Amino acid sequence: MMEKIKEMFIKNQYKSGVESYTDFTTEVGLWASEKYVFEQYLKPSFRILDLGCGTGRTTFPLFQLGFKNIIGVDLTPEMITSAKELDKIYKTNIQFEVGNALELRFGKDEFDAVIFSFNGLMSIPSQMNRNRAIVEIKRVLKKGGVFIFTTHDRNQEAQFLSFWKEEKTKWNNAKQDTRLYEFGDLVTSSKNEKLQIYIHIPNKEEINNWLITNGFEVTETFYRTEKFDENQAVKDKSGACRFWIAKNNT
Ligand SMILES: C[S@@+](CC[C@H](N)C(=O)[O-])C[C@H]1O[C@@H](n2cnc3c(N)ncnc32)[C@H](O)[C@@H]1O
Repeated sequence: MMEKIKEMFIKNQYKSGVESYTDFTTEVGLWASEKYVFEQYLKPSFRILDLGCGTGRTTFPLFQLGFKNIIGVDLTPEMITSAKELDKIYKTNIQFEVGNALELRFGKDEFDAVIFSFNGLMSIPSQMNRNRAIVEIKRVLKKGGVFIFTTHDRNQEAQFLSFWKEEKTKWNNAKQDTRLYEFGDLVTSSKNEKLQIYIHIPNKEEINNWLITNGFEVTETFYRTEKFDENQAVKDKSGACRFWIAKNNT
């Protein structure tokens, strides 16, 4: 039996993608869908945590849009090094630091908004650890604060339905890849990382129920292609995904 996917696997996967994520930040930047969501749900007065900020692809444009009270945190040290290098060009003085969503250094109720863009939340291995992350995110968010993130949606793309059907059969017969934790987990090659990547691909119900169980109310969810035809550069670098905008209710 192979060893389960652990945090080190995730750090290595993203370390190998730093160059590509840096290009994504400098050459592409914010998606039209992200711009809509951020302008709709954030206020310039908000204190914002950009979690899993990578090389600052969302952090720098948010600052430039007027959301200046923002901090970027990422698990992968090489991502933070790149973000700091880029800030020598963008000159925002944004604080970027290494940190783990499972164990945030911030106090209770410190933020009006937490963002986890480009499916980063789902690259936390195991439901148990993703639960730890959502509890942490809720802790640092004020009551009424907003949590914005994206996930894939395994029921949304017709071309993958037969793959997931086969996966279901494998899990039912205990024949799945033993590195994985739960049905929906995937190890695959991606467009951006040179190594294999781990990601959990949920369906809409899973995330909806997960948010409600953890004291959030779903304000809006949409699949990117339902509302936006992103430019080719965005599509080339990122597959379609589902946006989640949730309010911290308790
Ligand atoms: C798909 S990348 C997205 C980077 C950036 N937000 C963007 O949109 O270009 C996901 C990021 O989440 C980070 N990440 C994964 N697990 C994390 C964790 N437990 N805590 C903080 N960041 C994490 C990775 O290091 C990676 O930089």
